[in-house]
Amino acid sequence: MVTANLQRSLAVPPSIRASPSPIASGAAVVQEGNGRDLESAEQLVLDLCDPALREHALLVISKKKEIFQDALAPLLWHSFGTIAALLQEIVSIYPALDPPTLSPGASNRACNALALFQCIASHPKTRMLFLNANIPIFMYPFMITKTNTRPLEHLRLASLGVIGALVKTNDPGVVEFLLRTEIIPPCLFCMENGHELSKTVATFIVQRIISDDLGLRYMCTNAERLLAVVQILAQMVNSERLLAVASVQRDPAKLVKHVIRCFHGLSADARACAALQIILPDVLKDGMVDTYLVDDLATRRCLQQLLHNVKVGGVGGAPQPGLDHMMGILTI
Ligand code: TRP
Repeated sequence: MVTANLQRSLAVPPSIRASPSPIASGAAVVQEGNGRDLESAEQLVLDLCDPALREHALLVISKKKEIFQDALAPLLWHSFGTIAALLQEIVSIYPALDPPTLSPGASNRACNALALFQCIASHPKTRMLFLNANIPIFMYPFMITKTNTRPLEHLRLASLGVIGALVKTNDPGVVEFLLRTEIIPPCLFCMENGHELSKTVATFIVQRIISDDLGLRYMCTNAERLLAVVQILAQMVNSERLLAVASVQRDPAKLVKHVIRCFHGLSADARACAALQIILPDVLKDGMVDTYLVDDLATRRCLQQLLHNVKVGGVGGAPQPGLDHMMGILTI
């Protein structure tokens, strides 16, 4: 059982406990959970507001987040001062991004804060609150860092994890938010420059956006956008890259599958088909990627459908002067 005392301590940080008006009430939240774990979660969440205890609390909460389960995200969101503390953790390392002076320890600490944001992004009760507060934008700078040092790559992956958690759901507000805040350029940057795991998560995000009507329209209404996306996807599956990926990544098939699904999603649009007729990599047409798909009938079907769409899709489409012009540049 959670006592009234604990509820009060959640609503008001120790430093201003005498204040008459708590800003957020944790009452609705704490009643959901049960047992000792939740009590320790509450104490740890309170500790986040104390700079002296924060690093330890971040580490423990992010390690135990599966144990705290469903109660953690609402607890983090509704407790007083917690989100501000997490944001401060993130913003405070911006100066170490360029030139890259971030230490592994500082990166770990920020990654733990990002893991808690991921938890908030995954929870149906906090996801839209998180979006409406524009917090994902604070993660974008970590996606576009110019060097691939381990601490920076680790941050990039943790940031992609937050966005990946948002797009895993079918909440209609998510894609709209991500497009409005221009997530595509940072994702493309990760696909071009990140390590294999970052490439995979970034491609997954783009795939989910393309699978949304609004996202597909966004990508295809403008020739520059379409070509930027298609060219980077194509680059990732050229045979040289495939071999490089296969040697270092545990599951190279994942990246290949996401790329196929991105192309497949794009091939629903006639303008995209016209571009794909020229740019679609040979490795997708000549059976070279089939070894990655032996156990995955669904993606094999996607590939077949993609090849079919590209074959028939560009024919008879409306003229697209913008795209023709871009194709001219491409074929030079
Ligand atoms: N402001 C640019 C645009 O809206 C953002 C952008 C750059 C972009 N490259 C892109 C968007 C590639 C989609 C795909 O076009």
